[in-house]
Amino acid sequence: MNFSNSLINWYLQNKRDLPWRKTTNPYAIWLSEIMLQQTRVAQGLPYFYSFMDAFPTVFDLAQAEEEEVLKLWQGLGYYSRARNLHATAKQIAYDYKGEFPDNYQKLLQLKGVGEYTAAAIASFAYNEPVAVVDGNVFRVLARYFGMNEDTALLSTKKTFQNKAQELLPIKKAALFNQAIMEFGALQCVPKSPDCSNCVLATSCFAFQNDKVNALPVKSKK
Ligand code: ADE
Repeated sequence: MNFSNSLINWYLQNKRDLPWRKTTNPYAIWLSEIMLQQTRVAQGLPYFYSFMDAFPTVFDLAQAEEEEVLKLWQGLGYYSRARNLHATAKQIAYDYKGEFPDNYQKLLQLKGVGEYTAAAIASFAYNEPVAVVDGNVFRVLARYFGMNEDTALLSTKKTFQNKAQELLPIKKAALFNQAIMEFGALQCVPKSPDCSNCVLATSCFAFQNDKVNALPVKSKK
């Protein structure tokens, strides 16, 4: 079986049960992705629930007092994320009349939404075939395909984006993106991955060539 199908099969059997994976509501997905930018899933989870509870729609968030938003955010850190979140909610509620931007290019124009977050929302909410590239994706692709470009270089990002895009099954964008991130988070972890119990080991460049600890390459800058 090829890389993408193996990955998706692994995901279907091993994925964590996470609330933002059971919805295609772009507001909920956006909220989860902003929260998870510098925060681990276990830490972000209770905040996601309390935000969805306090602000079930983008209008509720837009109408909230900034103080209330910051108070609910307390403990998550990086408060600029909360301020951006609030400003963007107002933009969507008032400038876009509550219609969430519905494709990758439009999503990129939102404050605080970069390539990764736009691709995540576009694929998870709309199944648009755009590949996500985050640290997990860098690691999985670098090891499996033996990609040894320095991931600290901006030019390398394009190489990995192109590779991920090429691997993404056009009709399974959401599934593939979730799968590759989850695989990086649970199986192909940075330190001491359990390669003897990995479904991709027999075709993994790094495992076969004893390069698991050497990939991905990241210079100190
Ligand atoms: N980290 C960032 N986005 C995530 C997602 N959708 N699921 C799990 N972890 C994530």
